[in-house]
Amino acid sequence: MSETTNSRFTPRIFSGIQPSGGLTLGNYLGALKRFAALQGDQAQTIYCVVDLHAITVWQDPETLRRNTREATAAFMAAGVDPARSVLFNQSQVTAHAELAWLFNTVARVGWMYRMTQFKDKAGKNSENASLGLLAYPALMAADILAYQATAVPVGEDQKQHLELTRDIAAKFNHDYKVEHFPITEPLIEGVATRVMSLRDGTKKMSKSDPSDASRINLTDDADAIAQKIRKARTDADPLPGSIDGLKDRPEARNLVNIYAALADETPDQVLARFEGQGFGAFKPALAEVAVAAMSPITAKMSEYMADPAEIDRILGKGAERASEIATPILERTKDIMGILRSR
Ligand code: AMP
Ligand code: TRP
Repeated sequence: MSETTNSRFTPRIFSGIQPSGGLTLGNYLGALKRFAALQGDQAQTIYCVVDLHAITVWQDPETLRRNTREATAAFMAAGVDPARSVLFNQSQVTAHAELAWLFNTVARVGWMYRMTQFKDKAGKNSENASLGLLAYPALMAADILAYQATAVPVGEDQKQHLELTRDIAAKFNHDYKVEHFPITEPLIEGVATRVMSLRDGTKKMSKSDPSDASRINLTDDADAIAQKIRKARTDADPLPGSIDGLKDRPEARNLVNIYAALADETPDQVLARFEGQGFGAFKPALAEVAVAAMSPITAKMSEYMADPAEIDRILGKGAERASEIATPILERTKDIMGILRSR
């Protein structure tokens, strides 16, 4: 059904990253690298630094401004080209917040309480979480549907939010008897949709992990990257010839997947070279690949960060282009709902 529904829409790819500081290798491999690769395919690519999402948990204002620029620098350093993609920060396009309010009336409270990201972030004292943290997925649906985006590349952890986006679109279309919103396809592809912690292969690599050794930050220098890989948790067994042999070895599997994603190879191709060898041989090779891939990105990020005025200019320009797409879609949504417009 989604296939036929979506064929009515211009192919458009949308994704976002929160400027909450400390982007990791997980963000790079699961999101940024793929965002860059999707440019120039048939679809228009729209990428957003989602500052309105970040403030659902406390952000120091000065730090938020800096992180917004840093996330923009990360997009560009990873290869997102503001000339080929629309790149902007969410709050500068007011259609997001407006459409989110309209979706707050479509989505059901029960849908929100079921979200695992809400449960994780709200923790034990969920009564004390911000109302925005609960409503977060309706804003995310608005980000996507303000552009009638047909596909959204994300890491595995965002799958549930994308299902909710589809539910909101379907309920809106059904309630108002229209085919106004596409049923967006998640693009959760490749070997790095879930990069795991370097200290615990069963936990996602995350900026919120208290241990800095658990992750590679996009701002880490070559020494830090190499050292973290050297100290990564592993086991004593030699590597098998194919990824199936790593089913019950989460740490080993994670490192092989990271290698494959960084080198644009399949895990089996990587293992074909390392079969029978231990981590004493594999880790230095991985460190080399990681440093070679990440150092240019870290360097470009600092170059971009040296000129904040230029970043702000790019975001402003991107927001203008984004607004040109989103405004007519928002207006049509209001018309469908019977919200009177007379100016
Ligand atoms: P966030 O930093 O939470 O805004 O996430 C931005 C993007 O990075 C989303 O598409 C996430 O799914 C993706 N992402 C975050 N952490 C990881 C990870 N450990 N592995 C793969 N993708 C990730
Ligand atoms: N919720 C996403 C995350 O935490 C970020 C995000 C916000 C997003 N709006 C989006 C991702 C729209 C894709 C599409 O990573």
